Amino acid sequence: MSENVFLDSVNAVEFYVGSARQWAFFHEKAMGFTPVGYAGPETGVRDRVSYLMKQGKFNLILTSFLDPDSYIAQHIKTHGDGVHDVSLKVQDIELAVKEIEKRGLIKPSKIRETRSEYGILRSSVISTYGDTVHSLVDYSSYDSDLPPGFQEIDGVKMKESGTGLTGIDHIVGNVEENRMDPWVDYYIKGLNFKQFVSFDDKDISTEYSALRSKVVEYNNRSIVFPINEPALGLKKSQIQEYIDYYKSPGVQHIAITTDNIIKTVSDLKKRGVEFLETPSSYYTTLADRVGKIDEDIESLKKHNILVDRDDTGYMLQIFTKPIGDRPTFFYEIIQRKGGTSFGKGNFKALFEAIEREQARRGNL
Ligand code: FE2
Repeated sequence: MSENVFLDSVNAVEFYVGSARQWAFFHEKAMGFTPVGYAGPETGVRDRVSYLMKQGKFNLILTSFLDPDSYIAQHIKTHGDGVHDVSLKVQDIELAVKEIEKRGLIKPSKIRETRSEYGILRSSVISTYGDTVHSLVDYSSYDSDLPPGFQEIDGVKMKESGTGLTGIDHIVGNVEENRMDPWVDYYIKGLNFKQFVSFDDKDISTEYSALRSKVVEYNNRSIVFPINEPALGLKKSQIQEYIDYYKSPGVQHIAITTDNIIKTVSDLKKRGVEFLETPSSYYTTLADRVGKIDEDIESLKKHNILVDRDDTGYMLQIFTKPIGDRPTFFYEIIQRKGGTSFGKGNFKALFEAIEREQARRGNL
């Protein structure tokens, strides 16, 4: 492995939530994930309860606290339900820590070895924006997908289908005004990411978007992290609303891939997942804007799916409403058909939709 490539891919996303059991229920019944692992008092873990859920290549960990004085409890009190850890798989933790230390911007924690029946899991933790962290996890001496402390959930067979979600496309962080560039530097100078120059990359501070965004990527887009900061617009920025409620920077959304967005979204809706709506006028100009596409525009309109074209192809996307109590974290469902953009062309339509929700909460 080249010394310049010391990270591998996103390993798992861990949320700290008020009730892991209820979040697991939502992710199983509504989102179509399969619960595969459990950790808690029954498995010898005294201070927390966690569920490991999977769909496609997406590993999701939902953790809640048993001790009200714990860090997890404090995290939930401050932020509400939200992402604590976007953990990254590494091939060689010693190399990764050495490479990060060499760059001098980020201080990884001492390498920790956790032993279990499956072997030795080696990890280190680095802090990113807000209270969010990246655990760096080395599975090379460990022979299971279940983290230490987890037991397989009895009788669970990986469901063939779920809702057709296949993996993570990108994970977006919201940071404070004027903090986007320092965090872009954190990833580029501190972790050897590259700035991903895309269709979206011009200044996207428009009267509609009221945000600026840059995208960093690692190892041919194995890891893709857009970073947003609020900008002045006609209305209060949705990024500022996020920070006001989350009480710090944090993960705003995870975009999950599918090979058939119409089928996936139709299934998610039947299961009760709520999506942002799109003004129907969006679809009257769609054909002119994106040209020929495989999908039937009436089906896209029925499901409020957005389309964006760039010079390499197009992509289809839709955003859920925030899934917790605070207007913070939501999911994006995305299907790429050659397009590498993140939906800049949809900002106007999208922001009109988001702002209607914001107005209903009295925050516009
Ligand atoms: Fe996105």
